[in-house]
Amino acid sequence: MSVEIRTCPPDRFAELLRTAEIAFGEGSADDVIERVRKVADPERFLAALDGDTIVGTGGVFTLNLSVPGGDLPAGGVTWVSVLPSHRRRGILRGMMRLMVDDCHARNEPLAILWASEGTIYQRFGYGLATLALTMDAETSAAGFAREWPVEGSCRLLRAGEGLDLVTPVYEAARAQRAGFLGRTPDWWVGQLPLVDKDAKGGEARRLVVYETDRGPEAYAVYKIKADWGHRGPSGTIIVEEALGSTERGTREIWRFLFNVDLTRTLKTWRLPADHPVLLLASEPRRLGICVGDGLWLRIVDVHTALEGRSYGIDGRASGSVILELRDEYCPWNAGRWAVEVAEGRAHVTATKAEPDVALDANDLGSIFLGGFTATALARAGRVVEMRTGGLAAADRLFPTAVQPWCPQEF
Ligand SMILES: CC(C)(COP(=O)(O)OP(=O)(O)OC[C@H]1O[C@@H](n2cnc3c(N)ncnc32)[C@H](O)[C@@H]1OP(=O)(O)O)[C@@H](O)C(=O)NCCC(=O)NCCS
Repeated sequence: MSVEIRTCPPDRFAELLRTAEIAFGEGSADDVIERVRKVADPERFLAALDGDTIVGTGGVFTLNLSVPGGDLPAGGVTWVSVLPSHRRRGILRGMMRLMVDDCHARNEPLAILWASEGTIYQRFGYGLATLALTMDAETSAAGFAREWPVEGSCRLLRAGEGLDLVTPVYEAARAQRAGFLGRTPDWWVGQLPLVDKDAKGGEARRLVVYETDRGPEAYAVYKIKADWGHRGPSGTIIVEEALGSTERGTREIWRFLFNVDLTRTLKTWRLPADHPVLLLASEPRRLGICVGDGLWLRIVDVHTALEGRSYGIDGRASGSVILELRDEYCPWNAGRWAVEVAEGRAHVTATKAEPDVALDANDLGSIFLGGFTATALARAGRVVEMRTGGLAAADRLFPTAVQPWCPQEF
């Protein structure tokens, strides 16, 4: 069998996405293809062809990722699939090579993805960059630990409304955490309610905005799955996204979500490990939290990536660390790098000096957004301290005050 991987012909884009549905074993809603087409750069979508048949798919979205103290271009790897009839013959490997080289050629210092299975991408230098909590809470038991005052009010909007209200909240939240994607209006279309009534008869997405006299401070997008048992209503509220730009906004939007009538359970996912809701709740255990992997990140260009973020808990640290980076998959990154930081910004140069720590590309991907410390990775036998004090030198620079958070899968 010879399979050729090439840019997906534009007239076969819908067929490409439908092929991925076969590999994933689940179909997408009809409007998904149109929405993906709007945000996709068709030149960046690949088809693996066996003769004229598409047997493998993959694509890269052109994204911007918030990083500590700024924002960096990132290739968002997506729609990766190989038909069960063609698995384990190197088609994924071939696509991953083309995709990372494409990011490199476009000067994207980062590649990011959400993995169906974490084991797949580590061989290509992706590291676990964010943790993601799933929540399966008993709403009646999820009271607040203190009598925080109820302030402001919540307003439900109709499908098609509210973009002007949610955008500033998202942008403000994004400025406070690494890991958020930049959102154009076309990206927002996929996040907000499109219809007031679901065509399949289910509950449509709802958008609620929390406002004070200072304007919108939080919003949530959710659905209700109604259910009735012999003890009465037992519906589930499924929260797709809930964000606040202020502490008050976060608190009040969660108060709203935990108090929707006829619901007994609240489900959500992708929350950061330090999300305020854990500290608002009087009984965190009843939130039914489970920790999993979130965003995976690969450093495509170490020099640009390291100079593109700020350093120190306050973003203003000074110090230095010498990294010995192993990266066989992207050999242009491999070698010793001196990271000299003044007032939070780094000057990065290749060096022959003795390293402080040795690490793989995966490990740098894990510490880059502040999700893990070098010490934590050393305790897992990953990062190696090469000089006494080397781990501390790294940990004075890379960690952030809040955990990175990617609230959106792509
Ligand atoms: C995951 C998937 C794309 C792999 O494609 P593939 O063409 O079979 O992968 P390759 O043959 O190129 O494998 C490359 C390497 O990854 C390994 N690998 C691939 N998929 C793996 C998996 N799911 N679990 C563990 N290892 C895996 C292979 O064993 C191989 O390792 P080796 O080089 O050491 O022998 C394919 O199985 C698939 O479509 N799965 C369902 C959809 C999915 O999960 N997509 C990923 C979305 S994030």
